[in-house]
Amino acid sequence: MYEELAIFELSIWLGLSAWFANAIPVIGGGGRPIDGGRYFRDGRRILGDGKTIRGFVIGVCFGTFTGVVQFLAAPHLRPILAQYVMVTPEMDYVLSIGVPATFLMSMGALTGDAIGSFIKRRIHVKSGDPSPFLDQVGFIIMALIFAFPLMAPSPIFVMILIITTLGIHWVSNILSYLAGLKKNPW
Ligand code: CTP
Ligand code: MG
Repeated sequence: MYEELAIFELSIWLGLSAWFANAIPVIGGGGRPIDGGRYFRDGRRILGDGKTIRGFVIGVCFGTFTGVVQFLAAPHLRPILAQYVMVTPEMDYVLSIGVPATFLMSMGALTGDAIGSFIKRRIHVKSGDPSPFLDQVGFIIMALIFAFPLMAPSPIFVMILIITTLGIHWVSNILSYLAGLKKNPW
């Protein structure tokens, strides 16, 4: 029982830098768009005004900062974890995620987010309009791909991280709807 819980918690630990990197531009973004306002050959914006340079930089910085905090916290969390479960080498591996890996995850998250916007513009989705799969898990998949040379967690962590990421979107959408911030609960 505790072991499942530990794997769940460590999957969240694995995704933390990418989540923060992806979320913080909503607050700190704005200014010059990455595509410089340019249009693609289909006559639509390359990425759109929702993808800014400041948002990208601030996201990568904050995601990496998250990694620094994780790096400092890990040695203190390990003994707590060890009180409840037999800490396997796989668990140790994810818990001791390094700052370079979180930097790559943050870069990947923001790149995945921008690729998602590129695809959205090509399929005629306006900036800010939703595109379920791309908006919700595109960034986390790209974060994992970018970090892969430094951080190759076992598939169980990856699967739980992706499912949790979808779940968080679902819960936050419903809460935003109930708070009157969104028109639909999805
Ligand atoms: N943001 C930013 N720079 C980024 C990513 C996001 O400034 N690289 C900010 C923008 O203000 C954006 C907001 O965060 O409007 C929400 O991000 P997101 O939902 O990813 O963008 P959308 O506006 O929905 O645009 P798109 O349809 O292209 O995803
Ligand atoms: Mg959006």
